[in-house]
Amino acid sequence: MDGTKIGTPVIVLNVKSYAESAGRRGFELAKICEDVASKQGVNIAICPQQVELAKIASAVNIPCFAQHVDAVEPGSHTGFVTLESVKEAGATGTLVNHSEHRLKIADIDFIVKRSSSLNLLTIVCTNNIAVSRAVAELRPYAIAIEPPELIGSGKAVSKVDPEIVANTVEEVKKLHKDCIVLCGAGVTNGEDVRRAIELGTDGVLLASGVVKAKDPKTALLDLVTGL
Ligand code: G3P
Repeated sequence: MDGTKIGTPVIVLNVKSYAESAGRRGFELAKICEDVASKQGVNIAICPQQVELAKIASAVNIPCFAQHVDAVEPGSHTGFVTLESVKEAGATGTLVNHSEHRLKIADIDFIVKRSSSLNLLTIVCTNNIAVSRAVAELRPYAIAIEPPELIGSGKAVSKVDPEIVANTVEEVKKLHKDCIVLCGAGVTNGEDVRRAIELGTDGVLLASGVVKAKDPKTALLDLVTGL
């Protein structure tokens, strides 16, 4: 699903490199997202494991994002992922600069510009307000604020650090008013999502609350109640 935008409010599920999201299980998670999105009439996007991106993007009717790309043009590089290959795989865009896979600001600039010429959407993760401001200057499609210390904690940023969320929304929109702003880290239920939206975000970015849940579909159904 290539495109120029995604519907909001949105839940973006980054399945990371968990054993629970590899291979067949990753494919099932994507199918659950598609099913919940269509039956509940809500926006859900997924970032499959990189090696599953093409397979999943061709099998589901929801936006699929790469978890990372490298700031390189197609050519003589080994083990790198280009925006062009992500586009060929059928992705809507890419997540970049996750706290678990940071990039230099010059690389983010390269990726944002090249994404835009390829009609791909870039969601740039940031770890604090100063970095969010710097990234907003690059005019990405979306910014996802995620305090690293809350990632995987089960303590939702929207509940335990509402200031960073509200201030990021305010600062980013001052510099780039059309920028989608997401928040993530520790988001696990519908109440966490509802609070994120109340703080002015366009949705959430999350991982373990669904991927590590005993029943990912039930977890996702709870999360979408907050949209
Ligand atoms: O990319 C989303 C992520 O870093 C948040 O992780 O497990 O706290 O939802 P988690």
